[in-house]
Amino acid sequence: MRPIVYLAHPRLDRSEINGPMFRIAQELPGITCVDLYAEYPTFHIDIPHEQARLVTHDAVIFLHPVYWYSCPALMKEWIDLVFEHGFAYGQDGHALDNKVMMQAVTCGAAAQTYHPDGANGAHLRDLLAPFEKSADLCRMRYLAPFTLFSAGKAEEDGRDAVHLGQWRALLTALRDDTLNIPAARKALTLNDIAATLAASPETA
Ligand SMILES: Cc1cc2nc3c(=O)[nH]c(=O)nc-3n(C[C@H](O)[C@H](O)[C@H](O)COP(=O)(O)O)c2cc1C
Repeated sequence: MRPIVYLAHPRLDRSEINGPMFRIAQELPGITCVDLYAEYPTFHIDIPHEQARLVTHDAVIFLHPVYWYSCPALMKEWIDLVFEHGFAYGQDGHALDNKVMMQAVTCGAAAQTYHPDGANGAHLRDLLAPFEKSADLCRMRYLAPFTLFSAGKAEEDGRDAVHLGQWRALLTALRDDTLNIPAARKALTLNDIAATLAASPETA
């Protein structure tokens, strides 16, 4: 597969985890990496350029911190403008048919808060429903999100290196088309699948 990673982080200089995740994606051969805030600091998105770039890839990966149960503003603007009627959806809009869409997201809140019985009242995948429904409308194959909870404490807990290893394994499997897509679509998060891939990349 030809994956493209879109990073949206308005303060990359202060990022503890999205920045390192983006650098890993940049190091892997065969993966296109786009830093949206670096390319569009004034939010003036070049729609024809973005659509032309998008159609040459088969796996669309949105890498971002969760902001207000959603993505940073520029990523929303990018989706609003690039996933156009007649291009991405509608009777004559088939440019994204069958492409994979995946979110790699980081959260400040703890894992147990993203549960029907927790403080956020729902699983993160369910809260990210607008992305999944948009993918459905564009006839894309939405995967479960790859998540890091309590992101601000990941480094001191030693979870950051584990997460980065799993992210590398996941991107590699997507690129090499060895990811079990039906299982990745069904899961609540991609984390268990990514852990298996990182443990034995040649068999998972
Ligand atoms: C404007 C804003 C909104 C945020 N909203 C959420 C949220 O809805 N849920 C959550 O778990 N964390 C939220 N956070 C915390 C960020 O997700 C967290 O700081 C980020 O994932 C850490 O990644 P980084 O070190 O790469 O910046 C928010 C942070 C900011 C600045």
